[in-house]
Amino acid sequence: MQEFISAIDIGTTKICVLAAQVTHDGLGKLALRMLGEGVAPSRGIRRGVVVDVPEATAAVGEAIEKCEQEGGRQILSAYVGIAGSHIGTRNSRGVSPVDRRSGVTGADMQRALEGARAIALPENQEVIHTIARSWTVDGETEVQQPVGMSAYRLEVDAHIVTGSSTAISNLVQCVAAHGVDIDDLVLEPLAANEAVLRPEERRMGVAVVDMGGGTSDLAVFIDNALCHTVIMDMGGNHLTNDVAVGLRCPFETAEEIKLRYGSLLPERIAPDETVWANVFGEKSERSFSRRFICDVLEARAMEMMEFIADKLTDAGFIDRLPAGIVLTGGCSQLPGFADLGRSTLGMPVRVGAAQPSLPISGLTRNLLSPSYATSVGLLLWGLHEDARAVHRRFEADHGGSSSQKWMGAAAKWLKALLPDRD
Ligand SMILES: Nc1ncnc2c1ncn2[C@@H]1O[C@H](COP(=O)(O)OP(=O)(O)OP(=O)(O)O)[C@@H](O)[C@H]1O
Ligand SMILES: [Mg+2]
Repeated sequence: MQEFISAIDIGTTKICVLAAQVTHDGLGKLALRMLGEGVAPSRGIRRGVVVDVPEATAAVGEAIEKCEQEGGRQILSAYVGIAGSHIGTRNSRGVSPVDRRSGVTGADMQRALEGARAIALPENQEVIHTIARSWTVDGETEVQQPVGMSAYRLEVDAHIVTGSSTAISNLVQCVAAHGVDIDDLVLEPLAANEAVLRPEERRMGVAVVDMGGGTSDLAVFIDNALCHTVIMDMGGNHLTNDVAVGLRCPFETAEEIKLRYGSLLPERIAPDETVWANVFGEKSERSFSRRFICDVLEARAMEMMEFIADKLTDAGFIDRLPAGIVLTGGCSQLPGFADLGRSTLGMPVRVGAAQPSLPISGLTRNLLSPSYATSVGLLLWGLHEDARAVHRRFEADHGGSSSQKWMGAAAKWLKALLPDRD
């Protein structure tokens, strides 16, 4: 286990870098102690994807530097979040024979996962995660921990997450340019789940949706297993854009108005309440009905909820989520999102953020807001990496997953091309 864990969350609107030290809680379980956080506005990122490597690299550098200054330590490696519409997911099956005398071993599990991972991929796509959903031992399904079971045959149902090689390589470059190795690339909704879901929700059946600025990332968990992931091209920027179009004002003005006056609870707003804003082509400010602004936001928010419902229906999960939907990410803070979700979808909906009960000490108020759930979740993903590796992750023989090896190699290769940072 590493002594320090760092996370880099490269979002459409902000970049967040966190550093923590691995410690133990009072009961001897692994825990984290926050050392530093660095946040910088994003540049060169669109809809969760790097579109301008030099700009994004500079922005990532700013956040790393802030975090290093606060934490008093250089960041050498980090868990890095990945999202964007280039992400693809599918379920796959793998099988491994088992030596009945020794019973199921970790190597058998690796072989089964390797089999599941061996899927035909379109050109320019590669595997990011191979996550075991469930194990079957000699026909006995739903085995939680197969190691040591006497058997002839081990099967795994795995969830495969793939991404575009170009998008991955651009993301890697922005981090590697600062001399930071990538411990793992982590699909953002998987990180968010670590921070916001309660174990009971994950067991019963729940969908977590990280609603950011440019994307909304959905992950479904049933019986503690990841079943489905979707990255949707919609987020807070779309809401802001609608306000900008509705008022004919600049995006920045619309963003400010959304944050200050936006609400999805129009019944709580007096019909005559007005908001003043600068609009294009006029020197002085104009007044608008706050209700009108909230109606614009509500129309888009309902569309977003319906889109989520459609995705869950298409994948066959809409009726399998007794714990409903947990919304997180900056956009979920728009007042009334959970109420709107409940009335539109007819299922439990709550807004979630990192909880003070997580095994992390020193979380600032900032980090306890939904905007930072994915960033905090990346740290937890790192903390739980070892436990997960035993039965959830594809582990190549000794010393890390193949993606880690790939990343390590890519980062080294890139670093060889880039000037040293002192
Ligand atoms: N209090 C708030 N009320 C409404 N919206 C908010 C609030 N705070 C932040 N937002 C919105 O949340 C969005 C940013 O969310 P977040 O920080 O989770 O995105 P990101 O991680 O940068 O982007 P992404 O994950 O989509 O790549 C912006 O659209 C912003 O306007
Ligand atoms: Mg985000």
